[in-house]
Amino acid sequence: MVKIAVMVSGGGTNLQALIDAETRGEIRNGEISAVISSSPDAYALERAKCAFIPSYVLRRRDFGSAEAYGEALAEMLEQLGIGLVVLAGFMTVLSPAFCRRFEGRIINIHPSLIPSFCGPGFYGLHVHEAALAKGVKVTGATVHFVSEVVDGGAIILQKAVAVQPGDTPETLQRRVMEEAEWQLLPRAVSLFCEGRLQTQGNLVNILDVG
Ligand code: GAR
Repeated sequence: MVKIAVMVSGGGTNLQALIDAETRGEIRNGEISAVISSSPDAYALERAKCAFIPSYVLRRRDFGSAEAYGEALAEMLEQLGIGLVVLAGFMTVLSPAFCRRFEGRIINIHPSLIPSFCGPGFYGLHVHEAALAKGVKVTGATVHFVSEVVDGGAIILQKAVAVQPGDTPETLQRRVMEEAEWQLLPRAVSLFCEGRLQTQGNLVNILDVG
């Protein structure tokens, strides 16, 4: 069993999708062992409590630098024996040293089709505001491995979602979550835990089960 830590900062609907998938038996060979929040007020912590998952709060502002934050986080994850770190709406950028230490063991969900609308400053609702401002007709979500480059790691899964006339950032965000994020993230987590993700440089191959 791969022990999974889910990192959150806000509402935690992606955490909920993971909890629900685990309940349905859809996270094969993995279990959500910890929820770590960058904020004590995140509603995601309530969701963890309801599912009896131990939760921890690690605030960036309690540390002098991104490096110190990353070190504290790495120690916590190693003590807990975590094999997979899932960033599910985690709004703190992790230090390069942390990304290297957990290379190939951190995945992130991003609410656009990378390489569109990604990188520094593109998070949460801002991503959907930018997509609407550009006038794209199709957007979506991406699950990728985390590297030192923000939103630049190898892509695992993507799904397209149509933009509808009259969409607001809020309606588009909701559709991208419902039609893409809540499906892609549990699927990617299960594939990782089953050992079915094989990385070659920036390419991820999904292995068939023998
Ligand atoms: C989700 O849309 C997620 O893709 C996005 O924040 C939202 C969190 O919602 N993440 C990013 O923008 C990361 N760059 P949630 O707390 O309800 O899962």
